[in-house]
Amino acid sequence: MIGVLDSGIGGVTVLREILKQGINAKFIYYSDSKNNPYGDKSEDEVYSIVKGIVDYLLDKGCIAIVIACNTASAICVKRLRSEYPDTLFIAIEPAYKMVHDYNPKGKTLVMATEGTIKSEKFLTLFNKYDNHKTILLPCKGLAELIEEGNEDEINQYLESNLSRYKDIDNVVLGCTHYPLIKDNIRRVLGNVKLFDGSLGVSKELARQLNLRGITFDNKSYSVVFIDSSGDASKEKRFRELLISSE
Ligand code: DGL
Repeated sequence: MIGVLDSGIGGVTVLREILKQGINAKFIYYSDSKNNPYGDKSEDEVYSIVKGIVDYLLDKGCIAIVIACNTASAICVKRLRSEYPDTLFIAIEPAYKMVHDYNPKGKTLVMATEGTIKSEKFLTLFNKYDNHKTILLPCKGLAELIEEGNEDEINQYLESNLSRYKDIDNVVLGCTHYPLIKDNIRRVLGNVKLFDGSLGVSKELARQLNLRGITFDNKSYSVVFIDSSGDASKEKRFRELLISSE
C-alpha cells in the first residue's frame, strides 16, 4: 500500500501522474482539507499535522509515502526522513529545475504558497537554478479557493494577482492545487509554458520502487480516499478529477 497526502484534493494532480507510470498499487489518499491551507501555518504546526498523517498511513500498512503537497514537502521532508529512517518518503518540489532544463532564458513566474516560497528547501533550489529573470509570487489564499472550487472567485483572484505579469514565458505551478486551474491561468497570462512537479515525483516513486524490487501484481490500481473534514462531496470531486485528463 502506498500513502499519498495533501492538504486537500490538490494532490490528485500527483496521483494522476503516478497512475500513468503504471504503478498498480493499492493507494490511500489522505486529503487533509480540515487543515487547509498549510501555506499560512507555522513550520512547527505543519510538521505536527503532517507527522500525524504519516503515523496514520504507516499504521494502515503503507510501505511508501508520497508527499503530494509542495508546502508539506518543503517544510517537513528532511525532518521526517531523519525521524522515520526506515520509511520511503517521496516528496514533490516546485519544478524550477525543469525551467532551467527546458527554457532557462524565459521570464519566469513561480506561483506557490508563502510556506513553500519562504522555506529553506525551496530557496536552496531557487538559488541553484536562478535565471535572474524570475519572480517569486506567494499566492496567499489561492489553494483554498481551488479547494472550495469556486470558479468566479478563482478567476477574480487570478485577474487581480496575475494580470500585471503579461510578459511572462514560464509559470511554475508550485502548489499541487494549481494544475487544476491551468486553463484559468492561461486565460489571464496567454499561452505561457506551465511547469509542475508531478511528473518528476511520479518518476522518482517508480525509480525508488524499482530499486527496492517492489512490484504489485494487482490487475489495476485501487484508491481508498480519506478526507479529514468528513465532507462527503470531496470524494466525488476527487474521483472525477482522478480520471479526467486535465
Ligand atoms: N497542495 C498544497 C501545496 O502544494 C496546498 C497548500 C496549502 O494547503 O496551503 O502546497
